[in-house]
Amino acid sequence: PVLVVDLGAQYAQLIARRVREARVYSEIVPHTMSVDAMLAKRPAAIILSGGPASVYAEGAPSVDPALFEAGVPVLGICYGFQAMAQALGGTVAQTGAREYGGTEVKIRSTGSLLGGSPDAQTTWMSHGDAVHEAPEGFDVLATSDGSPVAAFEDTNRRLFGMQWHPEVKHSPLGQDAIENFLYVGAGLEPSWTAGNIIEEQVAAIRAQVGSDRVICGLSGGVDSSVAAALVQRAIGDQLTCVFVDHGLLRTGEAEQVEEDFVAATGVQLKVVDARQRFLDALAGVSDPETKRKIIGREFIRVFEDAAREVVADAGEHGGEVKYLVQGTLYPDVVESGGGEGTANIKSHHNVGGLPDDLQFSLIEPLRALFKDEVRAVGLELGVPEGIVWRQPFPGPGLGIRIVGEVTQERLDTLRAADLIAREELTKAGLDREIWQCPVVLLADVRSVGVQGDGRTYGHPIVLRPVSSEDAMTADWTRLPYEVLATISTRITNEVKDVNRVVLDVTSKPPGTIEWE
Ligand code: XMP
Repeated sequence: PVLVVDLGAQYAQLIARRVREARVYSEIVPHTMSVDAMLAKRPAAIILSGGPASVYAEGAPSVDPALFEAGVPVLGICYGFQAMAQALGGTVAQTGAREYGGTEVKIRSTGSLLGGSPDAQTTWMSHGDAVHEAPEGFDVLATSDGSPVAAFEDTNRRLFGMQWHPEVKHSPLGQDAIENFLYVGAGLEPSWTAGNIIEEQVAAIRAQVGSDRVICGLSGGVDSSVAAALVQRAIGDQLTCVFVDHGLLRTGEAEQVEEDFVAATGVQLKVVDARQRFLDALAGVSDPETKRKIIGREFIRVFEDAAREVVADAGEHGGEVKYLVQGTLYPDVVESGGGEGTANIKSHHNVGGLPDDLQFSLIEPLRALFKDEVRAVGLELGVPEGIVWRQPFPGPGLGIRIVGEVTQERLDTLRAADLIAREELTKAGLDREIWQCPVVLLADVRSVGVQGDGRTYGHPIVLRPVSSEDAMTADWTRLPYEVLATISTRITNEVKDVNRVVLDVTSKPPGTIEWE
């Protein structure tokens, strides 16, 4: 792998992603890992990430100079660049002056790192100190107003560095520099593809599972679907998927799993129709947190029952169910502090909280992957596009998009309105522009309207289109007025009991994406 050494900034994940985008496998390791331990992973190259403002700051992470003598190609970025300069005898001046944001650098010589660059390029920087003199043996490739040495390389020792952040999109030629490092500097091939990932995982899953039986909770979302498809590819009918239909799904979602997904993958599926059970449990409840707790609790109970049935059936067919598939992704692993060297990795429960007491071992075939890679693998495995490109949908489903008590009638109303919004957004080609667009029914609010010749007294539907990178923060999406107009007209015309459509123009924070 290419190791990305996390020197404490928030950029390590982004760097790892960019390397993967260049079709080279990468892993993040903490800077506290010893050089020996890093070398034991037989890295093809090493990238040092950005970090705190100054190499002189108290407690600033240092880089063991032995790293630069191992013969492994190294790229230092920002703080990693300065740490490399300092370790090898260059000078890093404590200027205190900052270069922050878009910064122009002048290219003195493109060398191999900046091959293909014009004479100057805009880069994104964020640093206080600057490298004033490059260590011996290095060519200075670029300078900027605040950085006498903004990039350097020593092609003999295969050491490279740059002051700016090539991994952020605000450095438009950044990906070129990363690819130059990987392909030219380190001589690597772009061979990490969806096909390879599948081959590797299929072999690993077969080795792990042997002839045992496996279950998987399927939610209809991207991660659990692709994980299931991958395990199915590896072990076929040793896998049984369990899909709980809690009745809080949108139009077509249950069918998508029951028909399209099964047809595309051949997976063995157990569908549990728990719609009435959830309606009964939710009767009379309007408080959002209480609804969430009820839905979570019922989900676990239903799943547990289904899993026990699968286990019992498997017993008859000779075979014990030993494994549970989970769609854990690499960001979950990294964010849980489990990137490397940590013993206790928290298991993320993607299917609304799976039972802990079922005592299965986990199979997590997507543990090393980012979301875009999961989608590529899904497409390669033939998972239907409607599932692969699905926008996030909360586990509690429409239950938390009805403000007020959840009833069958209200679910039908909301489903009809939601379908219209989705149809029109798809028709306008906006699905991949927006992060998601919750459609919310204000069941306890009524307003006066007029339709045909008569007065109406109906409920409002709220459209909540948002743009986001990670759902932690979000902004409301400026949808074209014509699209909004069409959605509004269609909903008020076609959906019974709805006489008004309103647009939520709140960012997150202060609003959350969902209303409950
Ligand atoms: P909020 O409303 O907190 O939502 O801004 C952030 C993102 O998380 C989704 N969401 C959930 N996903 N189970 C889930 O699997 C949940 O209980 C849940 N609640 C919110 C929401 O759709 C958005 O993408």
